Amino acid sequence: MNECTTLHHLQSMKSEGRKIACLTAYDATTARMFSEAGVDLLLVGDSLGMTVQGLPSTTGVTVEQMIYHARSVRAGSPGAWVMVDMPYLSYADLSTAVDTARSLIGEGQGNMVKLEGAGPVVEVVEGLSLRGVPVCAHLGLTPQSVDKLGGYRVQGRDQDAATRLLVDARTLEAAGADMLVLECVPRQLAAKVSRLLEIPVIGIGAGPDCDGQVLVWQDMLGFNAQVPRFVRNFADGNRTVKQAVEAYVQAVRDGSFPAQSEWYEG
Ligand code: KIV
Repeated sequence: MNECTTLHHLQSMKSEGRKIACLTAYDATTARMFSEAGVDLLLVGDSLGMTVQGLPSTTGVTVEQMIYHARSVRAGSPGAWVMVDMPYLSYADLSTAVDTARSLIGEGQGNMVKLEGAGPVVEVVEGLSLRGVPVCAHLGLTPQSVDKLGGYRVQGRDQDAATRLLVDARTLEAAGADMLVLECVPRQLAAKVSRLLEIPVIGIGAGPDCDGQVLVWQDMLGFNAQVPRFVRNFADGNRTVKQAVEAYVQAVRDGSFPAQSEWYEG
């Protein structure tokens, strides 16, 4: 990826039916390697609370820490489209969210912020979007609410929950969201959301019909013994990190990842 990736480019990938390969990155070296291996979109996820800091969840991550990691990723991959998570309660109201976005995009040099949920978050998405901030929404399993959700479990399985998620997705798009991450939902629901929305839908544990896929890099390189069903170890059979990431990009592009054993049925 030599040129700068733009939101327009990612949107065109959806329109043309080309799958988007996204990976988390938290530092300059992985950002450079992943971009060189063809990853379309880098996510500075607050999963770094767990993968880098060893915390039990994402809720302990601060805005300052996200700035530090976003700047590192930007330094490693100047042309990448860098999406940065807004940490827990750093977007509880619009004014706080504007401050956080200024920090993550201004100081952190990200391109886009990502925030979890709907309800009161819709107003925040609208406010940020009206101010020209590119926004990615995140529905399904929203890790910042894991204690409220009762653990890391598949969301949107019953009819009411599925309908609510679909309505939330459309409301967030109408409010100005430019992208949606959909985590841990049945394949059929993710397929419907991806079909009905015009913005790119990036899935994680959401089946093969999303417009793209994202994984946490430590999971897809086999660093963790305990991983969810939707993770594939791309280090298997590949000698270098670059080859493993190229294999991931290829599998996302040709639709061979995820396979049936790596998604949830409704
Ligand atoms: O923080 C993160 O890495 C994420 C992905 C799991 C989508 O939000």
